[in-house]
Amino acid sequence: MKGFVLLSVIVSVFPAVHMTLIFVYGTLKKDQPNYLLMRNPDNGQAEFVAHARTVERYPLVIATKNNIPFLLNVPETGQRIQGEIYSVDKKMLDFLDEFEECPELYQRTTVQLEVQDGPKSGSIIKAFMYSTTTYEPEWLQKPTYESYNASGDHGLRYVP
Ligand SMILES: *[C@@H]1O[C@H](CO)[C@@H](O)[C@H](O)[C@H]1NC(C)=O
Repeated sequence: MKGFVLLSVIVSVFPAVHMTLIFVYGTLKKDQPNYLLMRNPDNGQAEFVAHARTVERYPLVIATKNNIPFLLNVPETGQRIQGEIYSVDKKMLDFLDEFEECPELYQRTTVQLEVQDGPKSGSIIKAFMYSTTTYEPEWLQKPTYESYNASGDHGLRYVP
């Protein structure tokens, strides 16, 4: 019980201990169709940390009739992926897990990132990322993108 009280005090004094770093590269990025979900306090808290790109290469493709971006968990193929790191609370993490249909559709795994701006610019850090191992084999033949943009020149508009 004493331990619990102490832990509660620590958590309330340092709420940051409850925060998790998450890397987003698709529709959740700023100016993309689902960004508002990250900004909705009903879903929890998400604070922008920095722009970053993956240390590894991955295929980021657009697939299904709804033109959904999928990051295929096939390292060393495709490109180094450009995205944004957010610090999220438990509530937002739970929300995102549900939104990404994790673990059925996407799996949340740790990824190494090269930070591109802010105080940690140039350093390599770890964060969570949603990617998938459940994809159609022909998706590996699709064009890959370094930086997803729902309104990009590819013309494959995201269908919510
Ligand atoms: C996405 O593409 C549109 C249309 O080409 C462009 O206007 C917009 O600036 C792009 N957004 C980003 C974040 O690159």
